[in-house]
Amino acid sequence: MFNSIKIKIIIWCLAIFSIVFAGLEIFLYYELEGVAVEFVDEHIRSEVDIMSGILRIEKRHGQLETELVELSLAAKGKYGQKFSGRYYQIVSVEGKILASSPSLSAGQTLPILPATLEGLFYTIEGPNANPLRLISKSVDFGGLVLIFQVADSLTNTYRLVNSFRTIVLIIYPAVFLICALGIFFMTKWAMRPIDMFTAKISHITDKNLYERVDEKHVPLELRDLTLSFNTMLSRLEQPFERKKKFLSDASHELRTPTSVIKSYCDVMLSRERDGDVYKDALTKIGVTVNRMTELINRILVISRIDSNSSELRLVRLGVRPLIDDVFRLVGQAASEKGVSLRMEDGPDVVIRADRESLFEVFTNLIENAVKYNRDGGRVDVRIASFDGFCEVSVEDTGMGIDEEDLENIFKRFYRTDASRGLTVGSGLGLSIVNAIVNAHGGRIVVESEKGKGSRFKVFFPINTIA
Ligand SMILES: Nc1ncnc2c1ncn2[C@@H]1O[C@H](COP(=O)(O)OP(=O)(O)OP(=O)(O)O)[C@@H](O)[C@H]1O
Ligand SMILES: [Mg+2]
Repeated sequence: MFNSIKIKIIIWCLAIFSIVFAGLEIFLYYELEGVAVEFVDEHIRSEVDIMSGILRIEKRHGQLETELVELSLAAKGKYGQKFSGRYYQIVSVEGKILASSPSLSAGQTLPILPATLEGLFYTIEGPNANPLRLISKSVDFGGLVLIFQVADSLTNTYRLVNSFRTIVLIIYPAVFLICALGIFFMTKWAMRPIDMFTAKISHITDKNLYERVDEKHVPLELRDLTLSFNTMLSRLEQPFERKKKFLSDASHELRTPTSVIKSYCDVMLSRERDGDVYKDALTKIGVTVNRMTELINRILVISRIDSNSSELRLVRLGVRPLIDDVFRLVGQAASEKGVSLRMEDGPDVVIRADRESLFEVFTNLIENAVKYNRDGGRVDVRIASFDGFCEVSVEDTGMGIDEEDLENIFKRFYRTDASRGLTVGSGLGLSIVNAIVNAHGGRIVVESEKGKGSRFKVFFPINTIA
């Protein structure tokens, strides 16, 4: 479940929302409390100023006791009601309570603060354990210093702040739920293109590898993914189609020799014949079987190259002795045609390569040079090295290759029209050569002039590190 992008987005959004919401609420809670208490502070400060002001004016009139009694009698409104939450108290510097508001019942006092704390606000516990905000101010009454204390209840302030907290605690889960639902539907909506993309690619199989996902109709965020997916399809499509074509071409090529063998068998079995006729037929069947075997071997080599199952066993090897071995193998076919095989003198070049594969490369090239040569022609092999590469060129004096055929001769089963009537072959030789050369990190090029001859040049990296 936690592997789902949707769930991850929801969890992250809700976590961020919870932190931000909780932070904001805590901030607002303390701000509100501060403002409400400040409001009370403003009130008690103005009250203490007014009351001390009255005393200052009254001191001109005479006796303190009389003035205090008058002040107490003048206390109206909340100061006059018992436990109203508004109190005052007048204390001498010695700590003696000289007067207090009628709202304080007998025996009840406000805490007496030292004169040094004058002008500061204090939160204290008042009558009936109610929280009070208190301020004190000293007044000079004809040489006598009096401390005037005024207090206001914080009960309503705290009630307001607590109501705010309760509302927040009720609202929070509701807002949380609304947000969770909102984020859930939003992510569901945002993920829709991915679902559509998945649906689109899930119907692509080996039957419709040519199909592509339209990049223009996917959201920007999915465009790179779509491009990569389409590129991957193109990469897969090519070898897949090549394999399909190879399979059908191979079956087609194998059908000819098998039908030749079958027709020989049918003809021979149709009636009794002389021993020589049987011998002749078996010889022809044998030749066809040999061709078939050669074709099957080549098909096997190609499929091994395709599936990368034949690993190259790289060894240090001299090119010159290898060509000598190829000359020995092809020698008989060449002399039957009167073609002379020659290798230009020069130093040997040692490269790192797979011996068997390289033998296959030069056998194919030199066989071709003999096969497509004129009677009494020549095959010249030159070996050279330059810039870390070994170049082997195989040049013949044969029929040459048409320009339009040059780009096709490395394709599987491709044979030129000119060679089709003259020689037998499967058209696989050069495609095997090309694949082996590429696997060694080399390349092959061909130059040819119709009627004069062809030159195949193969380049291999020397890479002499053992
Ligand atoms: N030296 C050459 N001179 C003229 N044409 C050539 C030469 N080498 C190759 N070709 C042309 O290229 C074609 C492909 O060559 P490739 O070696 O792949 O097949 P093949 O010789 O026909 O059959 P295989 O080698 O499989 O028995 C040949 O059929 C031929 O038409
Ligand atoms: Mg060939």
